[in-house]
Amino acid sequence: MSTNVELSSNERIFQARVDAEEKIEPKDWMPEKYRQNLIRQISQHAHSEVIGEQPEGNWITRAPTLERKAILMAKVQDEAGHGLYLYAAAETLGTTREEMIGRLHSGASKYASIFNYPSLTWADIGAIGWLVDSAAIVNQVSLQNTSYGPYARAMVRICKEESFHQRQGYNIMMTLMQGAQSQRAMAQDALNRWWWPSLMMFGPHDGESAHSAQSMKWKIKRRGNDELRQQFVDQAVQQALAIGLEVPDADLSWNESRGHDDFGDIDWQEFERVISGNGPCNRQRLAHHKRAHDEGAWVREAMAAHEAKHRHKTEDAA
Ligand code: 3HC
Repeated sequence: MSTNVELSSNERIFQARVDAEEKIEPKDWMPEKYRQNLIRQISQHAHSEVIGEQPEGNWITRAPTLERKAILMAKVQDEAGHGLYLYAAAETLGTTREEMIGRLHSGASKYASIFNYPSLTWADIGAIGWLVDSAAIVNQVSLQNTSYGPYARAMVRICKEESFHQRQGYNIMMTLMQGAQSQRAMAQDALNRWWWPSLMMFGPHDGESAHSAQSMKWKIKRRGNDELRQQFVDQAVQQALAIGLEVPDADLSWNESRGHDDFGDIDWQEFERVISGNGPCNRQRLAHHKRAHDEGAWVREAMAAHEAKHRHKTEDAA
């Protein structure tokens, strides 16, 4: 991280704009590393939204009621839209959709670790909506104030839809907990499997984070990984207790002096396994994405041909 002495005049002007809470727009001067860091984070965010449709989409045909099916379809469609907003935001930085998808398929680009776990029962759909979307909301509300304009504006729009996602998931869990013993057991089993992977969503401890220090200086990140994780734990524990679920952490306890819940150690070896491609569903998720991408090639080709034809017509008319 450069000190002020080493910064060029452009970098000093840029940092002063960021410090003054100005939004950086696509045509503004920006350090190349700022641009690259944003392409990395925004494209991985977009990949996460799209890959995240798989575990939930897996249950659309098996939803227990027509209403639950309609709600789940709406949520999965929303996630596709979130991916589009974010790919579009990343494209304003000079990358292309093809480059981003290519990096996803080659493994050069990551997506959220959480989506590499299987959705085994209907209660998983409740746990994903409740926990994963809660975690996403905690993270994304903070990102509404990120320094890059297109990313911040995409976050404002996405956050509006996430609250519906979280509420429908929590409603599934609450309904199951008011049901038969087998339904309560299914909800508790889902919480047991999704709790710790949800805490991993916030990334490594800030002290081990490769990007946090610089991302905080450039106000790409507004709050650290650990601070966001703690907010998520504090709220989710209360929500679990409110419906009779037990959080699977023997070290969980309210710390009056901190004003937060103390919680146990995260299995960072599992985290590293999952983000390096060796989680329970990594291969399945990528194979599915590649297959869908290949099957959709004809749509992209037709759109490109239509656009070219329309462009020729416009040029001929000029
Ligand atoms: N899954 C996968 N990779 C992760 C990760 C996770 N949960 N947490 C961290 N990483 C990766 C980082 O990408 C980075 O690797 P890279 O250099 O190859 O990109 C490395 O681990 C070190 O982590 P850092 O904390 O240093 O990285 P960041 O500063 O980028 O912080 C982050 C990680 C907090 C996830 C940040 O990138 C971020 O806020 N991203 C935007 C939010 C996002 O992507 N959310 C994903 C979920 S989307 C979702 O849930 C959809 C919902 O609607 C269902």
